[in-house]
Amino acid sequence: MESRKECAPEMLSQGLLRQLRSYLFAKRDVMRAYVHSFGCQQNVADGERIRGVLEQIGFTLTDHLADADLMLLNTCAVRGSAEDRLYGILGNVKHEKKKNPDLILVLCGCIASEAHTAEYVRTHYPYVDIVFGTSSLNRFPQLLLEHFQGAKFACDTSEVISESFLETYEHVTPSREHSFQASVPVMFGCNNFCTYCIVPYVRGRERSRRPEHILQEVEQLVRDGYKEIMLLGQNVNSYGKDLEQSVSFAWLLRQVDAIPGDFVIRFLSSHPKDATTELLDTILNGTKIGRHLHLPVQSGSDPILRAMNRRYTAAQYLKIVDYLRQRDPDFSLSTDLIVGFPNESAEDFQQTLALVRRVQYDNIYTFIYSKRRGTKAAELEDCISDQEKRERMDQLLRLQREIAAEHYRRFLGRTMCVLVERESKRKGYLIGKDPAYVIAEFPGDRTLIGQFVQVRVTKTHNWAVEAELIESAKDGC
Ligand code: SAM
Ligand code: SF4
Ligand code: F3S
Repeated sequence: MESRKECAPEMLSQGLLRQLRSYLFAKRDVMRAYVHSFGCQQNVADGERIRGVLEQIGFTLTDHLADADLMLLNTCAVRGSAEDRLYGILGNVKHEKKKNPDLILVLCGCIASEAHTAEYVRTHYPYVDIVFGTSSLNRFPQLLLEHFQGAKFACDTSEVISESFLETYEHVTPSREHSFQASVPVMFGCNNFCTYCIVPYVRGRERSRRPEHILQEVEQLVRDGYKEIMLLGQNVNSYGKDLEQSVSFAWLLRQVDAIPGDFVIRFLSSHPKDATTELLDTILNGTKIGRHLHLPVQSGSDPILRAMNRRYTAAQYLKIVDYLRQRDPDFSLSTDLIVGFPNESAEDFQQTLALVRRVQYDNIYTFIYSKRRGTKAAELEDCISDQEKRERMDQLLRLQREIAAEHYRRFLGRTMCVLVERESKRKGYLIGKDPAYVIAEFPGDRTLIGQFVQVRVTKTHNWAVEAELIESAKDGC
C-alpha cells in the first residue's frame, strides 16, 4: 500500500474539505466516482492523480458507470478520431443524466485545454457540469465546490500555468491502477512544436519536477513492491533543461538505476534530437534499465521531416540506431510513424518504407495524419485521399509484420526474465514482458501476476513469443 500524504494547503485545505464533504454526504453515505482516461500514458498518470484527489475528498472509486455519482472524462486531443469518440460518448451520457439528474459530469485533460472547447461544450452539451484543463488540476476541488454551490458551469481552462502547479502536484498521492507497475511523470509539456501536433498547445511549455521529488517517489514505490517504474514526459529526454541547476535525463536515469531493489525502469517518449550519446550509453550500461528505446521517427523522408519541424534527418536518426545495435545487436527499438502528412509524395513514403526496413523495428505504431486546428500543418493543403492514406498505412503494417516475424525468430530457444502482467485470453496462460519489451505468452498460474519469472521461448510470432515457464526459477530471475 502507498503512504498517504495530505494535499497541499492551497489545493485542499481543511476548510475546503469540510465544505465539500458537507455537500457530498448531505444525501448519501457513499458517493462513487468513475474516472476514465483516454490517450497517452501521461494522461493515464494524470487520471491516477485525479483519482487520488477524489478519494481524498471522500469519493469511493468505481469501475461501473451505472453506480457513479460523478463521472470524469480525462480527454485526449491528439487526433480527430479521439475527439469524435469523446463527443460520441458525451451524446450517450445525456441518457445517463436523464436517468440520474444528480450525476456530476466532469470533463478535463487535453480536449478541455483547447481554446474553443469550453464554449463549444457549454453550448452543445449543457449538461456537463465542470470543465478544467491540464494545468488546472489544483483548481478541481474548488470547481467542485462551485458546482455544489449552484454554478451551472464551473470552468477553468486557463493556459497560464500557476506558480503552485508543480508544488501542488507533489502533494497529491495517485490512486494507481496497478499494484506492480507505476508511472512517474518527470516533466510536463513540450517545447518542440512539431507542425502536426496539438500537444504543446494543450500541455504548455516544458516543466521538470525536481529530481529529489522524483527519486523519493520511486524509492517509495520500490519499498511498496512495485516492479516496473515508467518515467514519463511528452519529451522525456529533454528533462532537466529548465531546472535552476540543470541536469540531463541520462543523469536522472542513472540516479533511478542506483536505487536498490528488484525492478525494471522504462521511459517514454524520447525525441531523436535529444537522444545524446550520454543517454544511449546510460541505457546500454544500466543494470535495471530495459534495453529498449521507443524513438518516434514519424517519417523516413528529409523534406517531410523538415516540414514536420522534427529537427533531425533520416541519416542522423539512423546514426542513433547504429550506435545502439553495434553495441547490442538485440537492442529493441520501436517507433511512431505518421502517413499522409500534407504533400507526402509516393517517393517520400518509399523512403519511410526503406527506413523501416533498414532499422528492423521490434514494433511500430502507425497513425494516419489528422489535421489539428491551430497547428502549423493545418494551414497546409491536405491533398492525399483517405484511400491513399489507408493504403500507405496497410503497406507499412504489412512490411512490419514481415520484419517482425523474421526478427522475433532470434528469440527461439532463449530464456528470458519476464514480469508477469496479466492472464492471457487463452485459458490457463499468462502474459508478461521482458526488459526489452518482448511480449511472452506461457502457461502458468495467475498467482504469478506481478512477479518476475524465467521462461524459455518455444515459438515466435510477429508481435510476441510463446514460452514455457522454467519451474526452478519461478520465484524470480
Ligand atoms: N512526444 C512524442 C514524440 O515526439 O515522439 C510523441 C507524443 S504524441 C502524443 C504520440 C504520437 O502521436 C506521435 O509520435 C505521432 O506519431 C502521433 N501524432 C501526433 N499528432 C498527430 C496528428 N496530428 N496526426 C496523426 N498522428 C499524430
Ligand atoms: Fe508533439 Fe512533437 Fe512534442 Fe512529440 S515532440 S509531443 S510530436 S510536438
Ligand atoms: Fe492525447 Fe494529450 Fe496525451 S493529446 S496523446 S492525452 S498529451
